[in-house]
Amino acid sequence: MKAKVLVSRKIQEGPLALLNEHAEVMVNPEDRAMTPKEIIANLPGKVGLLAAGSDAISGKILEAGRDLKIVANNAVGFNNIDLAAATRLKIAATNTPEVLTDTTADLAFALMLGVARRMGEAERFVRAGKWVGWHPNLLLGRDVHGKTLGVIGLGRIGSAVAKRALGFNMEILYNDIRKIEAGLVDMLRAKFFPLKELLAKADFVTLHVPLNAETTHLIGREELRRMKKTAFLINASRGPVVDESALVEALQSGVIAGAGLDVFEKEPRVSPELLKMENVFLVPHIGSATSATREKMSLVAVKNILAVLRGESPPNILNPEIYPK
Ligand code: NAP
Ligand code: GLV
Repeated sequence: MKAKVLVSRKIQEGPLALLNEHAEVMVNPEDRAMTPKEIIANLPGKVGLLAAGSDAISGKILEAGRDLKIVANNAVGFNNIDLAAATRLKIAATNTPEVLTDTTADLAFALMLGVARRMGEAERFVRAGKWVGWHPNLLLGRDVHGKTLGVIGLGRIGSAVAKRALGFNMEILYNDIRKIEAGLVDMLRAKFFPLKELLAKADFVTLHVPLNAETTHLIGREELRRMKKTAFLINASRGPVVDESALVEALQSGVIAGAGLDVFEKEPRVSPELLKMENVFLVPHIGSATSATREKMSLVAVKNILAVLRGESPPNILNPEIYPK
């Protein structure tokens, strides 16, 4: 008899076909997220749960999964999973690192260009039929090339953004709690700065830390005040890394010049003030959203489940301590 797996949100055909070969799969039939109640109701008998990154996989859900051996998150960020509960219950938790790094870095760079060159505003201007011809002062923005980029979290995605910045002749500053490999730092010609100093020096501050207790509101009123008035904040990490109401205040009062945001504190809610501002470039959490990358992510999640079904530790295990040494 095949093991049973619940897929909480539709995935691409290829990865689903592979999963179907080895498991009896139930896919959420609706084109919307499953509610926690629906997940709980469908968990009995399921050995695997392939979860969307937007599903909140609480301890309560994990406890309801009496047969559950793996929660495979279809995202690299795993702040949506109660990892301590998974570990206590000896349920493997996995994520999808690497395969989305470049796609997400492309998007972070697009946010930088988008806000500095007023792309959203310019697009709306053309569509509104307001363009009557060349004007010497029409939609003047700020240069990105040659400026100073401050990367907070020089991990996979942060360093991929920094690599792109080299092509724009930018100076790279970084802050990270991890000691970054010397070869990477040299290649990026990146300089380490304590957070406060990085904030004061950078023309663009881009956030690439995971969301956890230490990084929640890493950027608040104080930190925004340290930034240059001409600087831009870019966030393609997680919304709660930034205190969104402090950001609104800073943008309204000219404390910083603008922001490019892929993520928001209470998604899918966006602070209504942001929606009225021209000095922000807003997109709906699409960092990894290309067909090719989403397919690769689902395949990684499926392979993690298949490893557990074979009785192996999955390749992208987040809580390896559940397995005896
Ligand atoms: P990663 O390789 O683990 O990089 C994160 C880096 O930040 C690591 O070097 C980490 O150090 C460091 N860090 C942790 N806490 C820090 C702190 N307080 N201050 C400074 N640095 C800190 O992760 P990644 O693959 O680049 O992904 C980063 C995050 O991006 C994910 O967690 C996810 O939330 C987000 N993301 C968003 C999208 C999107 O669609 N917008 C797509 C993909 C990922 P340690 O390793 O020592 O913790
Ligand atoms: C997307 O936000 C991810 O963490 O993969």
